[in-house]
Amino acid sequence: MNNSHYCDTKEESIDDLSHHILRRIKERTHGGEIFRIALSGGSTPVPLYKALGQEKEINWDNVELFLVDERYVSFENEYSNKKMIEEMFIKHLEGSPKKWVFFNTELPAKQALQDYERQLDPTNKEFFDLVILGMGTDGHTASLFPGDILLQEEERWVGKSEMGNPIAKRLTLTYPAIRSSKEIVILIKGEEKEGVVSDALLNSINYPIGKILAMPQAKVVRLQDA
Ligand code: 6PG
Repeated sequence: MNNSHYCDTKEESIDDLSHHILRRIKERTHGGEIFRIALSGGSTPVPLYKALGQEKEINWDNVELFLVDERYVSFENEYSNKKMIEEMFIKHLEGSPKKWVFFNTELPAKQALQDYERQLDPTNKEFFDLVILGMGTDGHTASLFPGDILLQEEERWVGKSEMGNPIAKRLTLTYPAIRSSKEIVILIKGEEKEGVVSDALLNSINYPIGKILAMPQAKVVRLQDA
């Protein structure tokens, strides 16, 4: 099925993107509002998290951080997204965010999902201000993998996948949760992923990222190869 959908795509440097996000945070929190940002794991966002962590003029008191997805491993495990984001970003902040909402993998998966879900408000169709996503070369994003039944989930805002790689069991936000964001930034680096995005824009049904690309608030940011 062809689904030619234009999704804003532009090349940006990490600094440009970081400054854009910081402007958004300042605008929103200036009046005392809460800025909610959901952060993906993986390697592509790391330079952005480092840049955001260096910004000393942001008052994080009114910023709530959420984890987009998690590998079902211990907090100390090298594959933990929570561990990576704390090491690359949160521990460098002056002050602390108002909230840091992550999947508590010390709980059984079902309870970890319920624990996270209590921090969400599915009645708020603009719950997140920004969701930062990466993408695998198979077109997966968050922990929404090709062929996963979770791709059909349109009610619950969190779910469990058994199709992750390298860690199979994953806990993740689902499409309805991501769709509740005012802005979605998909970070892409390298020709192979750019090719997958181009194909997904034409054949969205073939890739989990396709449904995100069709959301008007989504934009693809091609990061310059360092
Ligand atoms: C994760 C991420 C996942 C990631 C892609 C791309 O937990 O791994 O949420 O969706 O964005 O796998 O990973 P890289 O940025 O490392 O290529």
